[in-house]
Parts: sequence; structure tokens; C-alpha cells
Amino acid sequence: MSLSASWRTHACGELRAEHAGERVTLCGWVSNRRDHGGVSFVDLRDRYGDIQLTADETASEEIRQSLTRLHPEYVLQIEGVVRLRDAEYRTKGRDSGDIEIVPERVTVVTKASRLPFEIVDDLDVPEEMRMKYRYLDMRRAPVAKRLMLRSKANHALRCTLIAEQFVEIETPMLTKSTPEGARDYLVPNRRQPNSWYALPQSPQLFKQLSMVGGMDRYFQIARCMRDEDLRADRQPEFTQLDLEMSFVDEEDVYALVERVMANLYQEMQSEALQTPFERIPYAESVARFASDKPDLRNPLEVVDLAGPATTIGFSIFESVLEKGGWVRGVRVPAGASLSRKQIDSIEAAAKDAGAGGAAWCKVGPDGPTGPLSRFLKSDEGSAFLASAAAVEGDLLVTIADRPRRAMVALDAVRRRAADLMDLVKGPDRLVWVTEFPLFEETDDGEWTPAHHPFTYPVEEDIAALKAGGREGIRSRAYDLVLNGVELGSGSIRIHNAELQRDIFTAIGLDAAEAERRFAFLLEAFRYGPPPHAGFAIGLDRLYALMFDAETIREVIAFPKTSVGGCPLTGAPSDVDLSQVEELGLLLAPSSDLEDADSHIN
Ligand code: AMO
Repeated sequence: MSLSASWRTHACGELRAEHAGERVTLCGWVSNRRDHGGVSFVDLRDRYGDIQLTADETASEEIRQSLTRLHPEYVLQIEGVVRLRDAEYRTKGRDSGDIEIVPERVTVVTKASRLPFEIVDDLDVPEEMRMKYRYLDMRRAPVAKRLMLRSKANHALRCTLIAEQFVEIETPMLTKSTPEGARDYLVPNRRQPNSWYALPQSPQLFKQLSMVGGMDRYFQIARCMRDEDLRADRQPEFTQLDLEMSFVDEEDVYALVERVMANLYQEMQSEALQTPFERIPYAESVARFASDKPDLRNPLEVVDLAGPATTIGFSIFESVLEKGGWVRGVRVPAGASLSRKQIDSIEAAAKDAGAGGAAWCKVGPDGPTGPLSRFLKSDEGSAFLASAAAVEGDLLVTIADRPRRAMVALDAVRRRAADLMDLVKGPDRLVWVTEFPLFEETDDGEWTPAHHPFTYPVEEDIAALKAGGREGIRSRAYDLVLNGVELGSGSIRIHNAELQRDIFTAIGLDAAEAERRFAFLLEAFRYGPPPHAGFAIGLDRLYALMFDAETIREVIAFPKTSVGGCPLTGAPSDVDLSQVEELGLLLAPSSDLEDADSHIN
């Protein structure tokens, strides 16, 4: 492959010893200039690497002068000859360390002002500054490397799927709302005031319609937009590897996704992923790990203490259980070695997760110590400890709370305790979490789809669903989890208008509302829909894990901040009043906006 172009014969970073003696024309950025004993050195850099220009005593005065006038990040075009360095001047560990360029012509193509930060690979620059000047940040090798890895990985995914007969289909950005559980980003429509597009939260309905269209196997590296509370592993716009297949069941989807992942790991890390991946039903995952995205590298498990918790005379446990809550704990083997401060940090993690607190005890040679210990001095107390299998040297941390809050807190306790004890080790653990519930109850007591409303219920539970049941109805939805991170989700889809209507009813959409929002889908189901199923992998999350990036922002070329802003462009920003008028929108004074609960439609 040649990197030669009109302005250059080679890229800076491609030259090696084998090019010695060649006359080359190069373009790149000045990354470093230094003078030693009358010899001038300039490092010229492009995304392929860098090369040293050397002007020694044999160089013309003009060349030597032109090098001294250079500043960091000037763009140069240079012409010169590749020379092998003398043995003692070779730089080990630098790809071009055996050679240098003897420049014969140096042209400054563009100059650079003083930069907001130096282009040094390991310089610690505040993240907001890096995002504001992402085009400078990208000149640093680790940042550039991650973008190149991402491109290579996307290519590998495409290769696998095209070889598997998938068709890459681009779906609309200006569309109608698809319920994925977040708020929509809305786009007003100039041609028809009071009508709105929604940006896609995912291409869910279009991929299903492509199945109705007989495309059989669809994929897309798809951008999704969701207006939701941002967390470390969320961005308002992100990318999915989105898949859909006809005439398949769970096993076909699992096998396909496993092949896609295995090929990707092979291509990117030369690592053979163990397939098939492990599997765990949702209910078991919640019971053992208090999470639907368990990190199986963490050996700590949750114990249900509801039985013995009523016998030790601790009124908080009793009242929580009376109200249908959980009393569960995490036994940390050898955790009695943790300091008070460390245990406080476990309790703080539980509180941050929403629990009121975490009652704990250590099991010492003379019995239990710590806040919970005063309830544990009796035989019942010993039985309580025994039911948690807590033995001398252990720490037991308990959580008593409403089920959902207790689950989140136990998950936090499990993670924090394992970190403190340095227990999370070993190879990556990929696991399918299966048999999710079809619905989950919100804090307001409403039932919403646990995945999305197009998910097929488990066949045996359909009768209960039709009879008005919600709780305990299982779905044919599945997640893929890597080391405690939800990488992707999918499900077998409903392909029957009547069942689809039942689900809409179950989540509180009356027939008119369901018709208004989803008439096109219900109509499509009248014209011969095939059974179908699919999956979507969050590529930002996957790549952050694969490339050892600290956050998903590190694998996104132009990411947004935790409040959804783009420091580079200043988006979101105000617009000209004339644009707003043209759209037929009224602008509220900003003070009114804060407490406005009405919406424009
Ligand atoms: P789901 O909503 O679970 O499923 O999304 C699939 C995967 O996308 C990633 N993801 C995100 N990544 C970064 N920032 C976000 N805000 C964000 N939200 C989600 C996660 C998640 O597992 N249409 C369905 C898929 C299907 O049923 O086929 C869907 O979008 O890694």
C-alpha cells in the first residue's frame, strides 16, 4: 500500500532502514526541535509515526537557518535523503530509530500559534480541554491509536457479517419515536408546524420492518440518540452494532453473536474467545450477584438472610421484611482484615447506591464485632452467621431495604468489597443473561417493558399476560455482559399484531394511542411478517473495554461531556430567532423554562 500523494512520496511514519539512500518528499507536523553541538534536529510527525530530520555541519546555511525558525506544530513539506544513522546514534524502541532524513529543502506550509497544550503523548491535560481541542488531542499517538483501532474493529465486524450474508441497511435519522426507555431528541418540522421528528433511540422498528421486507439478515453500525441521565458509560449519542435475523430462535442469535465476537477478538487481540459463552438466567443472576449484569470474575456472592433475620431482635430487619423488602448480605472471606476506613467506604458505596446504610460485622476469635454484632451474641445470632456461612476472619455486610434499592446497594457492596480485597482477577468473562422479566415496575407503580415493547413473552406465560398479569411474566430477551458491563441486548420479537396490541395494553397504551404511535408496525404485521429476532451491541462500551480505555469518551472521536455538551463546537447553543420563527416555535424566557411542565405540540 502506498501512502504517496501529490504533496509527498511517503508518510513520515512509514520510513525504515530499507529506505536508506532514497530521496523522499514528506509532509507532517513539527513535534520537536533541538540543537546539539551545532547539529539541528527536528522530529516530523504524522499519524503513521515520526522521523528525525538532521542538519549537521554538512548542511547548507539556508537549511540550518530554516530549521531554527520552526515552531511546534508547523506543517512542513520537506525534501531530503534517507540516511542510516551511525550505530551509536540509533534509537532503540523508535520505529524509525535507525534512520534520519538529511533535508535539502524545507517549506513551511502553514504556521501554528502557541497551542493550548503541548502535543505530548503522556501529558496530563484536563479532559474538557482535550474535548475542546479534540483535533489537537488527536495528534497524540494514544488518542489516534484508539480511533484507528475503532476503525479496524468496525471493519472486522463488517467483514464477518457480510460473510454471514447480512445486508448493511441505513435507516432514517429523522423518524418517529421508538420507545427504548429514554426521552427523545425532537426535531421540529418547518413544513408542517406542530409536527416533529424524533431522532432514533435505536433503529429497532426499521430493522423489524426490514424483516417484514424479506431482507432476512440486517445489520448496521448505527448511531442512536437518547436524552437520558448520563452516567460514566452513557453518551447522548452512541453507536450500536445493530442486528436482526428472520426465522431464528435464541440459539441462532447467541451463536451468531458469539461468532461475531470471536472473530473480532481474533482480529483485534489475536485472542481465541472461549465459545459458547456462559449463560445465567436473570433470576439466578439477581439472587447470586444482585445484578442483571454480573461480573463473574468477582467471586463474592449474595446470601438471602430473610429467614434468620427475623430471629435476632433487630427491628429494622423485621420491619423491612414485613413490608416485602429484602435482608441480604455479602460475606467477604477474610474481610475481617479490612480497616474501619475501608469498611466505611463499603458502607458509603451502599449509601451512594440509595440504601439507608449497611449493617456489618466482623467474625473475630471472640465472636462477632462491629455494629451488627450486638444482635448476634445469642444462639440465633450464631445461626444467622452460619446461614451466611460466615466463619472466623470473615466480614459480613448486610443490606435491608426495598428490593430494587437493596439490589443496587448489594451490587455496590459486592463490587467495592471485591476491589478492596483485590478479588477481581482472571480472564474476561462473557455471559448471556437470559429470561428477563417482560415488565418492570417503576417507582410510581407503573409497569414498563424491561427491554422494549416488541419483545416476545415466554410462550407459557402468554395466558397469564392475556389475563392481565404483569409481575413474573418472563420474556425472550437476553443481554450480553462482559466483566459486569452490559454490552448488548436483544430479544425474540413479536410478529403478531394481536399479541403486540396486548403488550401495548399491558403497558398502559390504550388502543387509540397504540394506533397513533405504531399504526405502521401493526399494519406491516398484516402482510406476512416472518418470525424474527435481533440484538444490538453498544460499540462504545465494547471498544472501551477492548482497548483498555478509562471511559467510553476515550474511544469516541468527538464525545460529549457528562451534561451532554460539546466543548468543541459549543453545542447545544442558541440559534437565530429567525430560524425559530420559521419553525413556528415560541421561545419562552429562560426563567419560565425551568418550571415549565407543558410541552409544545
Ligand atoms: P438497548 O437499549 O439495551 O437495546 O441498547 C443496546 C446496547 O447499547 C448500549 N447503550 C449505550 N451505550 C452508550 N451510551 C448510551 N446512552 C447507551 N444506551 C445503550 C449498551 C446496550 O446494551 N433496540 C434494542 C436492541 C434490540 O432489541 O435488538 C436496544 O437498543 O451497550
